[in-house]
Amino acid sequence: MPQVEECVKMSNFVSVEDLPLKIVEQLLKRASYFKNGGQQPKFKQPVYAANLFFENSTRTHCSFEMAERKLGLTVIPFDPATSSVKKGESLYDTLLALNSIGVQLAVIRHPQNDYYLPLLDLAPTQQLNLGIVNAGDGSGQHPSQSLLDMLTIKEQFGHFAGLKIAIIGDLTNSRVARSNMQLLQRLGAEIYFSGPQYWYDAAEFGQYGQYLPLDQLIEQMDVVMLLRVQHERHQSEDQFDVTAYHQQYGLTKERYRKMKDDAIIMHPGPINRGVELDSDLVEAPKSRFAEQMRNGVFVRMAMLEAVINGRKLGGI
Ligand code: CP
Repeated sequence: MPQVEECVKMSNFVSVEDLPLKIVEQLLKRASYFKNGGQQPKFKQPVYAANLFFENSTRTHCSFEMAERKLGLTVIPFDPATSSVKKGESLYDTLLALNSIGVQLAVIRHPQNDYYLPLLDLAPTQQLNLGIVNAGDGSGQHPSQSLLDMLTIKEQFGHFAGLKIAIIGDLTNSRVARSNMQLLQRLGAEIYFSGPQYWYDAAEFGQYGQYLPLDQLIEQMDVVMLLRVQHERHQSEDQFDVTAYHQQYGLTKERYRKMKDDAIIMHPGPINRGVELDSDLVEAPKSRFAEQMRNGVFVRMAMLEAVINGRKLGGI
């Protein structure tokens, strides 16, 4: 079992793009340790966290809060809708206020890609001194989703190298697709893409894998990773027909029957039932949807602990 001194130390946790694979491995081990009832770290000093969600969330928000409570952190409530953000206060000034009050860790979801970059590159004269954990930025990164997906895949197959993984659907708008393709490629998986051509950008995704019609992929894939159709990010919905989408790009019962015996279905949630997959398949034997959400808590505990250790916030 991993010990406290083997834990990862990070100042912030914003992306998996360049996260060393050794650290990925340690975080997944640590998450498994927590999942299997391993002892939670006992911090010598109280640690104060706030969750700032500028985009809607159920899984990530509640899961980070559960992870914080399991680690014994004190969570300071923050709701953008009733905060001074509504009076025009900037993200930096909001964080400066929270940090001055005593918040040491900020978990942030934000609609703007790379919102965290200016916060990581502050001039020495600036007073902000708190750990940033990215809970999703626009269509950029979703590191906690990516790591919980890796844990779910590892639990199923025990390895990543050589696994055939299809990422299907609204690729252009998906931070889950970006984070996962970046990490899975480095972990040695064979990546495929499918879905509507208007959501596939060959210049970006072509570096990571091949784009093929779903019916050419379904029988060979180990992991069928479906993406939510992100209506809120679309300029126009003119092209979108639910029935046509489901028939052409969705996981129908017919396609499900063609999957390999030990293949799994994944979806980051929230699911558009009857669109990305048939509603009856959400809890089918091959679906790992609920397990992904369960794993999210333990992965987030490992991520938060890494930043607490990196900043020596807990006094250990
Ligand atoms: N997967 C995910 O990020 O879900 P939420 O938007 O509900 O947090």
